[in-house]
Amino acid sequence: ASHLGDDLTVVLHTEAELHARLAELAREIEADYRDEPPLLVGVLKGAVMVMADLSRELRFHAEMDWMAVSSYGAGTKSSGVVKIMKDLDADLTGRDVLIVEDIIDSGLTLSWLKENLESRGAKSVRICTMLRKPEAMKVDLEVDYVGYDIPVDFVVGYGLDYAERYRNLRDVAILAPHVYSE
Ligand code: PRP
Ligand code: MN
Ligand code: MG
Repeated sequence: ASHLGDDLTVVLHTEAELHARLAELAREIEADYRDEPPLLVGVLKGAVMVMADLSRELRFHAEMDWMAVSSYGAGTKSSGVVKIMKDLDADLTGRDVLIVEDIIDSGLTLSWLKENLESRGAKSVRICTMLRKPEAMKVDLEVDYVGYDIPVDFVVGYGLDYAERYRNLRDVAILAPHVYSE
């Protein structure tokens, strides 16, 4: 009753496509940070897979740090009010920071996070995301490195969950609507 492949409709991006695209982004990132490698900041938990694969594509020493944040407030996920559940270990003063994310949906999480990290004295804060839903974005957010723009369907896999499941699916796939509407 709980096979990982259950309840998926189509595969949007295969593992091979995701890896190939990350390799392209890694070349851009290497070129853009030629002078000094950035501190990679992963947003738990979704970004774990992207961080693992992107960092291993990079041909510089990739220092990693992690944050866990959660939206709260009106009870809705995308309230734009964000609470830090686990903070960074690193001091950002004077650092070039590259935020690593799995997906930008409304954009509220990263728009808050970018401002938060800038306020700690980072020299620069850029964003790299595997996926983005342009039609779902509620804020203007400059995103420096985007793997793929995707439609607004509910997607899972490659770090993305539905109720904490499917994160370990290798591909990115669309979840059958009956799963979250029942
Ligand atoms: C998801 C996703 C992004 C965020 C995007 O995380 O991993 O971090 O939502 O949403 P937004 O653009 O609308 O703000 P989630 O809060 O589900 O936590 P998780 O990474 O632990 O799954
Ligand atoms: Mn997340
Ligand atoms: Mg989630």
